[in-house]
Amino acid sequence: MTLIDVHLTPDYAARALRDDVRAGLSATPKWLPPKWFYDARGSELFEEITRLPEYYPTRAEREILQTRAGEIAAITGAHTLVELGSGSSEKTRLLLDGLRDHGTLTSFVPLDVSESALREAADAINADYPQLDVHGVVGDFTAHLDKLPGDPPRMVAFLGGTIGNLIPAERATFYTSIRDVLDPGEWLLLGTDLVKDPATLIAAYDDAAGVTAEFNKNVLRVINRQLGADFDVDAFDHVAIWDPENEWIEMHLRATRAMRVLIPEIHLEASFAAGEEISTEISAKFRRAGVESELAEAGFTPAAWWTDTESRFALSLWKAA
Ligand code: SAH
Ligand code: TRP
Repeated sequence: MTLIDVHLTPDYAARALRDDVRAGLSATPKWLPPKWFYDARGSELFEEITRLPEYYPTRAEREILQTRAGEIAAITGAHTLVELGSGSSEKTRLLLDGLRDHGTLTSFVPLDVSESALREAADAINADYPQLDVHGVVGDFTAHLDKLPGDPPRMVAFLGGTIGNLIPAERATFYTSIRDVLDPGEWLLLGTDLVKDPATLIAAYDDAAGVTAEFNKNVLRVINRQLGADFDVDAFDHVAIWDPENEWIEMHLRATRAMRVLIPEIHLEASFAAGEEISTEISAKFRRAGVESELAEAGFTPAAWWTDTESRFALSLWKAA
């Protein structure tokens, strides 16, 4: 059976979007937080990104899950699989299969800010895993972690390298908040994209077909629709750069001309100089030592570290201490 809890009600989401857009577009430099990319169209565009030839992380992580799902099930014996930022939960089926074959799994708890993606995934998993209790949560993983249902021992999966979309301070808070909702002996399964040559990284975030550019610009469409703004979406270029110091990809939207944008719902007029950028997202890339020290700091002990055959991506397993 499927049950969906909605913690991110339309009201709450509308208020949060207003607050974020007011803060971000009044700031210098301008910024917008990434969770607003994911309306129904944004979630579809992300799925399209995962199939692009340049976007290797999904394929690399799937390869690791294919090889290691059985081991993960044997080590954890998890009864509940919680997935944060679950999206389509497509790769997650490999984990569900491993845990089901191991005989311990009773429930699956996907959590995502995108209600459309969550409902679609929950229905599809429910149809294909009839014995499983599917309890979806529409929520923000930076705010609603205390609301996670399910029998222990639970394993929280955070896949796709989404951890890299949080800035380091948010990342530390996030790890600690996961540790706080887990009991000692429960599990975190973390997908992290690894530092590699900049050309490969930049191509993954600036594909030839322009899907990532559409995805980045989708945040402006969301603001137009939700807040009545008049962004001329085509007057912005998608920019992806590698910051070697911070070891992250930075995504921007660059105004190709000077313009004023009205955002009536928040009584804001945002002016852009030609060439001015809105920073929309980072995607941090990791090294093993850095991940280990941040998780130790949050109260986790390492259980396993696996990479794909080309060492592009890592999946690691952590036990709440
Ligand atoms: N786990 C999937 C999707 C990764 S894309 C994969 O590996 O392919 C990131 C996902 O996180 C999207 O589905 C997006 O809707 C969700 N997301 C982004 N910010 C979020 C937030 N603050 N709270 C909950 N979900 C979020
Ligand atoms: N979690 C994904 C990543 O960092 C999200 C993502 C992929 C993304 N491509 C993007 C976010 C382009 C913004 C723009 O790889």
